[in-house]
Amino acid sequence: MAKTIARMTIDPQYQLADVDSRLFGSFIEHLGRAVYGGIYDPGHPSADELGFRRDVLALVRDLQVPIVRYPGGNFVSGYRWEDGVGPIESRPAQLDLAWRSLEPNRIGLNEFVEWSKRAGAEVMMAVNLGTRGIEEAKQMVEYCNHPGGSYWSDLRRSHGHVDAHRIKVWCLGNEMDGPWQIGHKTADEYGRTAVEAAKLMKWVDPTIELVACGSSNSQMPTFPEWERIVLEHTYDHVEYISMHSYYGNRHNDLPSYLAQSLDMDHFIRSVIAACDYVKAKKRSRKTMSISFDEWNVWFHSNDADKQVEPWQVGPPLLEDVYTFEDALVVGCLLITLLRHADRVKIACLAQLVNVIAPIMTENGGASWKQTIYYPFLHASRYGRGTVMHTALQSPKYDCKEFTDVPYVESVAVWNQEAGELTIFAVNRDQHEHALFECNVRGFAGASVIEHTVLAHPDLKVVNTKEHPEEVAPTQLQGAAVDAGVLSVQLPKLSWNVIRLRV
Ligand code: AHR
Repeated sequence: MAKTIARMTIDPQYQLADVDSRLFGSFIEHLGRAVYGGIYDPGHPSADELGFRRDVLALVRDLQVPIVRYPGGNFVSGYRWEDGVGPIESRPAQLDLAWRSLEPNRIGLNEFVEWSKRAGAEVMMAVNLGTRGIEEAKQMVEYCNHPGGSYWSDLRRSHGHVDAHRIKVWCLGNEMDGPWQIGHKTADEYGRTAVEAAKLMKWVDPTIELVACGSSNSQMPTFPEWERIVLEHTYDHVEYISMHSYYGNRHNDLPSYLAQSLDMDHFIRSVIAACDYVKAKKRSRKTMSISFDEWNVWFHSNDADKQVEPWQVGPPLLEDVYTFEDALVVGCLLITLLRHADRVKIACLAQLVNVIAPIMTENGGASWKQTIYYPFLHASRYGRGTVMHTALQSPKYDCKEFTDVPYVESVAVWNQEAGELTIFAVNRDQHEHALFECNVRGFAGASVIEHTVLAHPDLKVVNTKEHPEEVAPTQLQGAAVDAGVLSVQLPKLSWNVIRLRV
């Protein structure tokens, strides 16, 4: 018998919001082996004519990532984008002060635009508002998006890119509230710079969308005043405020670790409150959207990173090897993002390859899927459509960091085009499977297509080059709809995807 019985009602009439496909975005920074050794490895047997690894491209394409943020991250705050364009042999090597690495500039914005096309994604470009300012931001938009006839657009054409890149989404700097950031600013300093950069960038190309930097995480002493002040400066000029958050199991406390998505939920609600406060204060009719453009688990590599020699090209930094329990947390975080699809329009799993990433590679060698690859894959494939307003009842537990943590976390997405209803669910119970009953009476004739599960008896197990499929999804039998009620067993500690034909 299941100790946990959870119930949810899903009715076609109660819809929360259409999912913006950019909710399944990701991130490539010039950091560690993300670019050099990750996406780019000209000596690799699978490399294409530009040096991009075809094996990595195939894994990225499978994930159906619609948008990739680039080139940073902390890196962008010291970056001169001009160093990365034009003839490769004349590009300078530069010290990257953010990650104490050497940036050879063999990959720059034009190469990355080409890589993204091959990956089936659009680029989300960040400008440097750390060491640089509004003039360079304006020039970069002109170089990328202006058709031609001006200095910067003609420079792009002379570099072999006759057609403009038409990059739509631009980040106004990165984590400018953090003292670790190159060119760290106060909220007023940043807000003033961001609004002036926004004006110039949109005067060059009025079709672009802009993301202002929110707080680097919810623990920042300046949160949420930072959001208020930055938005008071930028509200009329930007479409999104950014959010970043990373989670970890530093004290090996599983009940608290599995509940980290409650923190993400609280953080999102607080940022929405800050946005809506400024909206009210400004008597604005515009509603600010959220770009959660860095989120993931990040803690495994923290100590190892302190030993890495500085000033290397492509050093092994932030190479978290993800366990099965990390995949469960990533599943809970994805459910949380989907539940906020009415306000969170863009989200980027940080990052994509080698650096806190779902995909790992060996320089010149193999590539494989980390445990967290799977919940992201499932959410990206089946989480498109309309997020439903659901009433979820689940028994709850208390732990060190949270109270009232539901054992079962879930969200439902209705893809009307495909005629499918997908229920994503995590069972946080360590001891028992859960019986999950979903009332789907409103969907006449609903039937189960499949029930996919990620489960493993060892919470700390990882996928490696030698055992790349140690953690991999399986299909479970037994889920069925009877008299309009779906009954499904969720194994203890599992990520579940239940797809219904409706
Ligand atoms: O994603 C790794 C780093 O985390 C990014 O460079 C920075 O923006 C954040 O602190």
